[in-house]
Amino acid sequence: MSEQKTAPTGSFLVGGIEMPRPFRIRRLGHFGLDMQDVVAAKDFYERLLGFRVSDHLNLGARLKEEDRGKFGHETGYFLRHGTDHHSFVIFPRPVRRQLMPQANPSVTVNQITWQVGSLREVVAGHDWLKHSQVRITRSGRDNPGSNWHVYPVDPDANVNELYYGIEQIGWDGFSKPADMHRRHYMNVPELPHCSEYHEVQEGLKAGVDPRTGIAQSERLPEIHDVGGVLLGRPFKVTKIGPVRIFVQDVEQALQFYRDILGLSLTEEVVWNGHRCLFLRANTEHHSLALYPLALRSQLGLRPETNFFSFGLQMGDYQQLRNARGFLQAEGVRFLDLPAELFPGIDYNTFALDPEGNLIQLYYYMEQIGWDGKPRPAHMRPKIDPKNWPDHVPAYSDSLLGEVYLGPLN
Ligand SMILES: [Fe+2]
Repeated sequence: MSEQKTAPTGSFLVGGIEMPRPFRIRRLGHFGLDMQDVVAAKDFYERLLGFRVSDHLNLGARLKEEDRGKFGHETGYFLRHGTDHHSFVIFPRPVRRQLMPQANPSVTVNQITWQVGSLREVVAGHDWLKHSQVRITRSGRDNPGSNWHVYPVDPDANVNELYYGIEQIGWDGFSKPADMHRRHYMNVPELPHCSEYHEVQEGLKAGVDPRTGIAQSERLPEIHDVGGVLLGRPFKVTKIGPVRIFVQDVEQALQFYRDILGLSLTEEVVWNGHRCLFLRANTEHHSLALYPLALRSQLGLRPETNFFSFGLQMGDYQQLRNARGFLQAEGVRFLDLPAELFPGIDYNTFALDPEGNLIQLYYYMEQIGWDGKPRPAHMRPKIDPKNWPDHVPAYSDSLLGEVYLGPLN
């Protein structure tokens, strides 16, 4: 049975703390894009950026019998940069379009996914979102990743996800075998639920071999010294985000992400008359940035999608420089955009993936303290985006924020 405690003030108790909603987002957990050519995209993100495939999903099985094989590659891929089962997912757009013909064609974001702190937060959040008349596409639990979730949709039809309990990949690099998923969920569960430990013990007792999951693989020779460890490329993605999107109505989008999901507005920037908003989930300056749609053409970006960019944080400044050089040598094209549009970040650049999606590479993210105030603009480091120095001075929050756990490989 689900037990949702309400505080006397009408607010919700989240672990005994009075909160305005029955969940609190802790971080951007993962992100996804629909790709026209998912095979080329997989090569780019796996071989060149160092993500590893932890699972795949055959979307073709959901097509009508007569449609199978008509829309190209039918498999979606779950990718990870650390121990989370996935931090980035790519799915075949032609198949997804066929499965959801009514979906907004400008939406190529597959999901913007936020971690909350408990299963109770997912379940109570689901009930609260429903009560708040937010559109929910589905809820329950997906086998690749093991996480429980609910999927609310923003005013521009971008699918968000709140989740608890994503599977962790251990030292042997195997994801959980499909046979280990012995329960199936098409809705949020009754609470309390048994632990993952209990589920795994059940699977082991039933004879499931833990080494029948998907194993990690490194496609490049490990010849690059990164912080004293030999890796396949001279950098390491240590964090994902921010996500940047173009929205029809900035105020309406703000109401969804601030008032419904509970993200905090860190800063607003008006650039050439366009109001741009930067929201955070935790101590990072922003994990999500909202830009008005009218800005897209001014920046010369593709009109086919309201997706702007996905950020990948490098372990340090040296790795950022190395990444740019390594990817350029591999023929990857880059784009530099006005620094004013990215407050809280200093040196950065945008790599274009095989279908023109912008991937923002950076190493520094300003951290926000207890008072919720960003660094005043005049106290921010002065950078020359055209001339990256050999090394940079330390700020009070250099190398701080969300910490990458485990070995770099
Ligand atoms: Fe997800």
